[in-house]
Amino acid sequence: MINVSDLDKEQNVVTETKEKYTLDLFAEPEEAQPETFLNRANLGTFQESLRTPVHRWFTYPAGFSYRAVEEAFRSYKIKPGNVVYDPFAGTGTTNVVAKQKGVISFGVEAHPFVQFVAQTKIYWEFDFPALLRQIDRLVEEVGTEVEAATISEIPVESIFPELVCKCYSREKLAKLYLCRESVSRISDVPFRNLAKLGLTNILRSAADVATGWPYIAPQKVKNVASSNRPMDVAKIFKDQLYSMYGDVQMISRTAFPGGKATLIAGDSRQYHEEIADASIDISFTSPPYLNNYDYADRTRLETYFWGDAKTWGDITRNVRTKLIMSATTQINRTGYDEENLLSEAFCTAVPHIAKQLQPKLAQLSKLRLEKGGKKSYDIMVAGYFNDMLQVLQETYRVLKPNASFLLILGDSAPYGVYIPIDIYLGEMGKALGFSHYEVEELRTRGGKWKDNPQRHGVALKECILILRK
Ligand SMILES: C[S@@+](CC[C@H](N)C(=O)[O-])C[C@H]1O[C@@H](n2cnc3c(N)ncnc32)[C@H](O)[C@@H]1O
Repeated sequence: MINVSDLDKEQNVVTETKEKYTLDLFAEPEEAQPETFLNRANLGTFQESLRTPVHRWFTYPAGFSYRAVEEAFRSYKIKPGNVVYDPFAGTGTTNVVAKQKGVISFGVEAHPFVQFVAQTKIYWEFDFPALLRQIDRLVEEVGTEVEAATISEIPVESIFPELVCKCYSREKLAKLYLCRESVSRISDVPFRNLAKLGLTNILRSAADVATGWPYIAPQKVKNVASSNRPMDVAKIFKDQLYSMYGDVQMISRTAFPGGKATLIAGDSRQYHEEIADASIDISFTSPPYLNNYDYADRTRLETYFWGDAKTWGDITRNVRTKLIMSATTQINRTGYDEENLLSEAFCTAVPHIAKQLQPKLAQLSKLRLEKGGKKSYDIMVAGYFNDMLQVLQETYRVLKPNASFLLILGDSAPYGVYIPIDIYLGEMGKALGFSHYEVEELRTRGGKWKDNPQRHGVALKECILILRK
């Protein structure tokens, strides 16, 4: 069953709008903004990345524009041979740009499927004539299989979870299944990854219902006329593969030499021996915002389709538990000491911030009993700062002296309780040894919810926090 009850009611909208592609990262400014190096560049939204070779291979609403990375490199004079680190690599935007520019990069991403996307996007070392032959063979095989199969006999209901079945007609899903099986049989790993991402890319556009959850209820039919129209799945898959072939060939030919991207499937709170002490010239990232966005839910269609998970419980175990705390769906209240939600390490490192947070956490614990949904924002907020302390610590370790750590951030006000994330993270950085920090405002945010009566009226912003080692 589709678990809409677990969606954030304050944020759940059922109309399909352009917001479906854009989390609160680089949306269009709602009012005039002060000039900063990032908004000076008119960065636009992730939409921009959707038009750009390689970046467009996967729509990640949490992703930032590739131009943000380019602009940061320009402002900080990052040159070929320099080393960049993104502790929340997501779909690899930072690493793709770095590799294109001959810059060495490291990225850490904890969500296994998202890490797979990033890994695939940064692999360009194909033998192109051989790749073209592989694509031709796959396309032919898929076409033959779809032609030959008795589609009505493919038991899609027992192959896929109900959520996936709800997204497509039986016939379309059966054809997608045949594509999936052909891709899974490919033995050459780089080609299999490319083909897997290619098929993944068409999953949402091929769906008959809105797939923009957690913000859009999945029951909503996208467009009745188009959902009843038969779709040539094999042809769409073929076009996607040839388009990716063109992208990767172009990017590999135009990239500066010397770029090398290393993506670590792991947790940026932890030590990674691949990244040496004081080896990084700049760290550029966007951590999860404290806005109750569930990354595991966002990729549920993909993980269910590929069989990486079958249930809500599977994605909790396989994904949610690996991520830093930023959504209430990661929380099971049993096992938390409600009086001591901030870790000892946090209280010791930044006692003045702990002192400011404590009353806010107490207020959130009280408010949850009064509000619908009874959201565990108290645990979420405390967990976020406990986790981010470890990420700041580890990033500090790997930065060279005087190097900067740039974080694109959104502040937050769960149940209307304002949490100045930029200031708190800046102060935490200072306590860990960073010499100073500054905050540049990028835009105000939250305006799109202004007509929602359940939503608080606290003004929010997106900003960039710059910590200097
Ligand atoms: C705002 S997104 C970054 C998107 C990225 N800039 C892009 O363009 O694709 C934050 C990412 O942090 C990842 N994440 C959460 N906890 C993590 C952890 N402990 N270690 C590494 N990555 C983590 C999430 O899975 C998510 O992909």
